[in-house]
Amino acid sequence: MSIIVALKNINKGFKDGSTFHQVLDDVSLSLHQGQTVALTGPSGSGKSTLLNIIAGFEHLDSGQLLLPSATNTLASIHLDDTSPWQDQHWSRFRRQSLGVVFQQFNLLTPLNVKDNISFSLSLNQQAWSPWCDDLCEQLGIVELLSRPVETLSGGQQQRVAIARALAHKPQLLLADEPTGNLDEQAGMQVMALLTDLAKQSNTCILMVTHSDQCAAFMQTRWHLQQGHIIETHVHASA
Ligand SMILES: Nc1ncnc2c1ncn2[C@@H]1O[C@H](COP(=O)(O)OP(=O)(O)O)[C@@H](O)[C@H]1O
Ligand SMILES: [Mg+2]
Repeated sequence: MSIIVALKNINKGFKDGSTFHQVLDDVSLSLHQGQTVALTGPSGSGKSTLLNIIAGFEHLDSGQLLLPSATNTLASIHLDDTSPWQDQHWSRFRRQSLGVVFQQFNLLTPLNVKDNISFSLSLNQQAWSPWCDDLCEQLGIVELLSRPVETLSGGQQQRVAIARALAHKPQLLLADEPTGNLDEQAGMQVMALLTDLAKQSNTCILMVTHSDQCAAFMQTRWHLQQGHIIETHVHASA
């Protein structure tokens, strides 16, 4: 299985007044094509920070973020290096290979549903494809395509956020408590859809969740505690 992204000996902390709080302590991991991982851990343990680092929303203090190079060997991306190769490689990864679903949906509110999904495609110079129709059909949002997103319910907005994140068939989907704002039944439905759709596009999922039921949809569980990742479960059947 090929590696999509790897972290090597990552450290990340934040200053809290005069004290420094180490959030990620020498964390190493790799994410592979088609792999599904639930990231659990106490509140404040650094789950969102880890996702933000992989998504490039947050800088690391030390360590390496590695992406496959053209020859498929892992190459370190130095995020403070502005050389064109680094820059292009990193921004191409973020544009083409990454889909992100946040707890708060983060949809573009002046736009309707279709334009939200199309905007994300356009960043990648991609047009609406049969896969997008298929996604919307499976997510049950076809009738909503012309509706402004702010007129939708939480569950509907979450489905749109998932369509937007998967429309360009990313290699990696980062989801931060994607069902956190939904009731249990809607949450389970969204989880089942999300995992099924990711399977269809062979997308790797790294998903933060507090729910054991949601975590059970993933093959592997990584538990983050005191800055370290402990792999706790591997579901043979998933
Ligand atoms: N931008 C930031 N500035 C200062 N502290 C932060 C920032 N982001 C996160 N933290 C702190 O880092 C710790 C981990 O946060 P977070 O990754 O959001 O945890 P989790 O998602 O597991 O609840 C918390 O103590 C949080 O207050
Ligand atoms: Mg969080």
